[in-house]
Amino acid sequence: MNMPAADANRVLRVARPIDGLPVAEDFAVEPLPMPEIGDRELLVRTIYISIAPGVRPLLPYKGEAPDVAQGAGAGRVGGADDDVPNPTRIGIGERMRSGIVPSMSKFAGGTVGEVIQSRHPDYAPGDFVFGGRYCQLYEAIHGDASIKLDPAQLPIEADLGLLGRSAFTGWCGYRRVADPKAGETIVVSSAAGAVGMMVVQLAKREGLDVIGIASGASKCDFVQTLGARACIDRKAEDAGAALDRLAPAGVDIYFDNAGGFLQRPVFDRLKPFGRLIVCGMAAEYGGAEQSVLPTGTILGKRLRVQGFVVLDYEDDYPAFREEVVRLWREGSLAYRQQVYHGLEEVPQALADCLSGQSGGGKLLVQVSPDTSVGGRGP
Ligand SMILES: NC(=O)c1ccc[n+]([C@@H]2O[C@H](COP(=O)([O-])OP(=O)(O)OC[C@H]3O[C@@H](n4cnc5c(N)ncnc54)[C@H](OP(=O)(O)O)[C@@H]3O)[C@@H](O)[C@H]2O)c1
Repeated sequence: MNMPAADANRVLRVARPIDGLPVAEDFAVEPLPMPEIGDRELLVRTIYISIAPGVRPLLPYKGEAPDVAQGAGAGRVGGADDDVPNPTRIGIGERMRSGIVPSMSKFAGGTVGEVIQSRHPDYAPGDFVFGGRYCQLYEAIHGDASIKLDPAQLPIEADLGLLGRSAFTGWCGYRRVADPKAGETIVVSSAAGAVGMMVVQLAKREGLDVIGIASGASKCDFVQTLGARACIDRKAEDAGAALDRLAPAGVDIYFDNAGGFLQRPVFDRLKPFGRLIVCGMAAEYGGAEQSVLPTGTILGKRLRVQGFVVLDYEDDYPAFREEVVRLWREGSLAYRQQVYHGLEEVPQALADCLSGQSGGGKLLVQVSPDTSVGGRGP
């Protein structure tokens, strides 16, 4: 394994407060010294970076931050301190994160890459790992907080998509929070996204009547291929009127990934003992929309109209992996991904993810060749 040149590393840093959706000028790609690795650490060449909408509330807002950002907890904005990251904020000058919460959790990461150098007994150069936390080309990561990947079993990027934290979030929300029962009607917003894809498929498999919500005919078609009986195109149709037509008896579970203006019409159609599962509020992160309910507070305080946070379910991660890999091998689970290229494209990918201006599925950014499949990509 050739060591990279000492000046080969690059990082994406936050350059200024962000007004709504991120643009390229809100960030800067800068040189970064090649990390020195300590005991049990790995030097990893990043290949794919996960894009997740939940990183937006951590970024500095231009003007007043929406309620969702307050829900993430108090913290500083503006300090540059790479060594002691504040899990609830990414300040100006700090490194852009891929994973949302840097920690020793095995599922906190947001990149997959190739081990270049190892000081951990379980890893060797040439291994592929999940577990980088930042948008940078080379990263020192702790072997104990990483997962070794087997490219012969699954594509390495599957650990950001099919097995990524978003998919795990969908699994936890469905399995541990929603209390679903066969025959019930479940509505899933952002149904073509990384969380939604998982919820739609699990619910369909288990005999629920699934109605998705997404934007655009192509994503709605995709949601129906996943098993939804119908998918409401939120940009073409009034969601309330569509639900009156599609589910006149009402809705048992609203698995809400979007919050915002979409929430109330579905909430109003919940049956007695219905459940509003507040998973996320992608419509609110940029500050353009608000729910009539304080969704950031519902999620952050885990109130029942039930919010949940995937970090509370770490013990379930092995069960999730086992089930999803089994379903994937059986050919009974689908997923979609869209790949952007280069650190410079991270802001655009995040904006597309937040707004829904993407082809659906999990969004990734590839920043170096994928040597697990013979070096495809940049
Ligand atoms: N609770 C937790 O622990 C936890 C953990 C991870 C993620 N999450 C949350 O789960 C949600 C889904 O995450 P993901 O990674 O799978 O993202 P995603 O669904 O791939 O991306 C967000 C989607 O939200 C939809 N959206 C954007 N603006 C909207 C609006 N104004 N009204 C309605 N829908 C809008 C868009 O889909 P369409 O355009 O197709 O509608 C967009 O693609 C996010 O809110 C995320 O923050 C929660």
